[in-house]
Amino acid sequence: MTIWDQLPRPFFVLAPMDDVTDTVFRQIIASVAPPDLYFTEFVNVDGLQSPGRKKLMPKLKLAQTDRPIIAQLWGKTPENFYKTAKELKDMGYAGVDLNMGCPVKTVIRNGCCVALIKNRAAALEIIRATQEGAGELPVSVKTRLGFNEIDLTWHELLLSQKLNALTIHGRTAKQLSNAPANWEMIGEVRALRDRLCPDTKIIGNGDAMTRQQGEALAGDHKLDGIMIGRGIFHDPFVFSLSSPWLGYSRRQRLDLYKSHIELFMTTWPNSERKLHTLNKFCKIYINGFDGAKELREQLMNCTTASELLERLLLDI
Ligand SMILES: Cc1cc2nc3c(=O)[nH]c(=O)nc-3n(C[C@H](O)[C@H](O)[C@H](O)COP(=O)(O)O)c2cc1C
Repeated sequence: MTIWDQLPRPFFVLAPMDDVTDTVFRQIIASVAPPDLYFTEFVNVDGLQSPGRKKLMPKLKLAQTDRPIIAQLWGKTPENFYKTAKELKDMGYAGVDLNMGCPVKTVIRNGCCVALIKNRAAALEIIRATQEGAGELPVSVKTRLGFNEIDLTWHELLLSQKLNALTIHGRTAKQLSNAPANWEMIGEVRALRDRLCPDTKIIGNGDAMTRQQGEALAGDHKLDGIMIGRGIFHDPFVFSLSSPWLGYSRRQRLDLYKSHIELFMTTWPNSERKLHTLNKFCKIYINGFDGAKELREQLMNCTTASELLERLLLDI
């Protein structure tokens, strides 16, 4: 039994988001309304298995509370996937996910992530190397509906690889985030799964902004799980059955940001993560009350975390 067999139905996953879902933010979410499963940001295996490793390790840091958690990997060289997958169990990870969905230009130019849809031999090599390295840890893939067009032959191939789970972001690479997610097609992939590989869990992703909406989508398309990304920017309690966020006072919002900044400072005492990753969160908390825009502008001008904390305390 792997983690994927132990989750409720439908289960809810916090999406991997680069420079967002690090251990600090995950712990904040865990303290208010935890999902059933976390993912790390995507971490480059070629960097991890090089002298640049130290710089990337903060992305793999985790605490006791942000679990169960899957490490998401990307890269080029199968051997580095093998080596990294081998290390993850001892670090506390419950599984390994392969990013085959990121459409950033530089990544595609390098033949990585969503570009693997167009280089299926390389995708298969990476999956095999990861499965070998992972041993008993489950291996999953997160991908899109296709590259330029929807192409279910891609999912058919993935579903023949005995993956433990497959997350489908309901857009093509070409669509980036510009078209509405196509949940009908996510349902089609689920139907393929039913025929080809009933043991692979299917997770739908794209534009689910509330838990209720996620539950309805999971029901309509018979999905095992729902992954929510940007919904967390609108409501840190997005995974709760009944979110109190709309009724949260100015003081409560400021207090939560304060906890986030303090945890950032204790987790990264040597500036392992830059201040701009912290500023990204300002809009989540400093929002929904009179004067929020002005306060945000002042907070965004701070140049260190301690200055940010001091400035925030003046308002509490
Ligand atoms: C800031 C940001 C960073 C992201 N980084 C990653 C990543 O590291 N790995 C990944 O698979 N997807 C990444 N994504 C995509 C999300 O995981 C998700 O697939 C996408 O946002 C659609 O889901 P949503 O509509 O619930 O946000 C990122 C998205 C955003 C907005």
